[in-house]
Amino acid sequence: MERLQKVIANSGITSRRKAEVMIQEGRVKVNGIKVKELGVKVSTKDKVEVDDILISKKDHVYFLLNKPRGVISSVEDDKKRKTVVDLIETETRIYPVGRLDYDTTGAILLTNDGTFANIIMHPQYEIDKVYIAKIRGLIKGDSIKKLKEGMIVEGRKMQASKVKLRKSDATTNTSIVELTIHEGHNHQVKNMFAAVGYEVLKLKRKRIGIFTIDNLKSGEYRRLTPKEVQIIYSLEKR
Ligand code: URA
Repeated sequence: MERLQKVIANSGITSRRKAEVMIQEGRVKVNGIKVKELGVKVSTKDKVEVDDILISKKDHVYFLLNKPRGVISSVEDDKKRKTVVDLIETETRIYPVGRLDYDTTGAILLTNDGTFANIIMHPQYEIDKVYIAKIRGLIKGDSIKKLKEGMIVEGRKMQASKVKLRKSDATTNTSIVELTIHEGHNHQVKNMFAAVGYEVLKLKRKRIGIFTIDNLKSGEYRRLTPKEVQIIYSLEKR
């Protein structure tokens, strides 16, 4: 059993002192009943809500990282290269949700919550994974059409739900293409471009569903808010 204000603070939404104020203001419910006194203790079985938003269980943590180039998306690496987990300061054993290649940068989520990870990754929830790819060559309209129509790569159907040509530069012979997909197969974006005849020179994931890296510098990360976690969980019930 732990004090209510500690449980709220541990969920990452606020400090312990501010949690006490929230309790006194009547913004906190335990198992559906408003609690205004300090000193109440709860267990992990109790349902704690702040402003009617369920706060994550104490033992679940969620991070959004802007992955730099040259970092591997796994928990450990047998070649002892730096991993995305090494970049996050936490006592909890977390793992990345899906993968970005060693040379790919951008948004990656890390957690120890398997249900959350599954919602993010499973194509049935149609969560956008938006990539910016710099490719060699000036991409043609029929290639863009093929990316949208879909293709079979290594026995799997791969399809972009959206493709936007951002820039075509004849002097450098490169194009910048924004591609949205819902699956997350290994090397999917590079394989899709290869299937239509283009090499990816640079790849960045700029968004996963509601999570963008707009306010995070390379290598920076932040915790998700309980509201953000709740939004992802609300998709599960569809
Ligand atoms: N597709 C790729 O090819 N590489 C990534 O890192 C992510 C998606």
